[in-house]
Amino acid sequence: MDIQLKILRFNPEKDKQPYFQDFNLKNVSDDWRLLDVLHEIKWNYDGTLTFRRSCAHGICGSDGMKINGRNRLACSLLLKDINTKKPITIEPLPALPIIKDLVVDMTNFFDKYEVVKPYLINNSPPPPDGERLQSNEDAEKLFESAKCILCACCTTSCPSTWTNENYIGPAALVKAYRFIYDTRDEGADERMDILDTPDGIWRCHTIFNCVEACPKEINITWHISQLKKKISSREY
Ligand code: SF4
Ligand code: F3S
Ligand code: FES
Repeated sequence: MDIQLKILRFNPEKDKQPYFQDFNLKNVSDDWRLLDVLHEIKWNYDGTLTFRRSCAHGICGSDGMKINGRNRLACSLLLKDINTKKPITIEPLPALPIIKDLVVDMTNFFDKYEVVKPYLINNSPPPPDGERLQSNEDAEKLFESAKCILCACCTTSCPSTWTNENYIGPAALVKAYRFIYDTRDEGADERMDILDTPDGIWRCHTIFNCVEACPKEINITWHISQLKKKISSREY
């Protein structure tokens, strides 16, 4: 089949502002992924088109972008699953500065991620056999939050992020959940102190855009609600 695309282009070395460039591709298959389409353009139409990708299989989180108005992973979306009767629009993730074309500056996103201390905190001596063990049941409680691949599709789709760039955002909150509910971790209180701040968890107004955007199908809003309950029932 033939498809049309409108791709947002921006080269800060020569463009005053971003603009849409049209591409017409012939004889593509509907089982191509959007990443295959971008490769086809880059390799056969315009080698200057710039985008991030690495694993090509929904693992590394590097090819989050806005496709037909919704944040998705280009490598996880088939042409057959979107409307190809009209031009497909592809834009960089919103709310982050564009470095070039579809590549955004993720510094702000990762700064917020680091704020929640995304690592196990445990200063107690390890058990004699050297391993801090966890039951299967306790581990299962973390599985969904641990699926996060840090693609930023959620945080950049959240209206609270658009209106307050300091809001910690859903991806960091999911990561906070992953460690606060880890039975081996001792850093829950210091993380909850961080979340219970003006730009912390209470900036989430339960808008659910994050859930719709998450390619790993994490129920982000549910995880945030559990954290809100835990923080509001703390005894000081
Ligand atoms: Fe991406 Fe989902 Fe992780 Fe957000 S929670 S960064 S959308 S994988
Ligand atoms: Fe934003 Fe998701 Fe909360 S979209 S407001 S983080 S439910
Ligand atoms: Fe790795 Fe898409 S290229 S998630």
